[in-house]
Amino acid sequence: MTEFSRTHIVAIANQKGGVGKTTLTTQLAAVLSRRFRVLVVDVNPQRSTVWWAENARDRLPFDFAGYQSPAALAQLPELTAECDFVLVDTPGGVEATPLLETVLDAVDYVMVPMTPERLAVEPTARTVSRLIEPRRVRYGVLLNRIDPSIPTQLRTFQELLDTTLGLARFEAHLRKYQAYAEAPVLGQLVTATPPTGRTAGYIADLTRVGYELSDQFSPALAGVW
Ligand SMILES: Nc1ncnc2c1ncn2[C@@H]1O[C@H](COP(=O)(O)OP(=O)(O)O)[C@@H](O)[C@H]1O
Ligand SMILES: [Mg+2]
Repeated sequence: MTEFSRTHIVAIANQKGGVGKTTLTTQLAAVLSRRFRVLVVDVNPQRSTVWWAENARDRLPFDFAGYQSPAALAQLPELTAECDFVLVDTPGGVEATPLLETVLDAVDYVMVPMTPERLAVEPTARTVSRLIEPRRVRYGVLLNRIDPSIPTQLRTFQELLDTTLGLARFEAHLRKYQAYAEAPVLGQLVTATPPTGRTAGYIADLTRVGYELSDQFSPALAGVW
């Protein structure tokens, strides 16, 4: 039995590379799998999550479909009837646009991670206006790698999304985890590490994002897992 009446297919997409798509896919899958049945699918020709999951295969708390061709996504609803969520990690880069379009035709929701950098703004806005909005699929931009030591950063980028760009966004955001201290955290599943110190902060951030995502589909479930 699943929590919802049907499977929700969620793409993690942004034409900008390095904004955290692969990291978000795997870590959010781990957090959601505490409450839901989750399947992760990778349509990256580089097989980012596949490479990543090979280390953790036996310990993964979610189902992992490995690399699938985008065309196979059309069959996914039948293959995944037992799942609450399917998270699809997608490639960035303009050359991957046709592949991304095929994925976006098959999904119910798009999470668009964005880092607080000027260089990320235009590709993010373009991903939404050219690829997501024309399909009338729901989406939310998720600010990722927010540096709490820069007090105005979060507000500046929230206002940019809300006012200047007029893009839908998550209320929650993910904080930046300091490169070398946090590398072990980001390189393995957060749920596999003891929730101490700064790991707890990252898990809390992700959990808020997970609540908001499940709220998109079933407000009754929000906050009860
Ligand atoms: N919240 C975060 N804090 C610190 N580093 C992050 C965070 N999210 C992602 N990263 C790092 O940013 C880099 C790019 O992330 P990745 O998930 O590969 O992006 P994409 O899939 O969009 O190309 C990786 O080195 C990853 O560890
Ligand atoms: Mg990636």
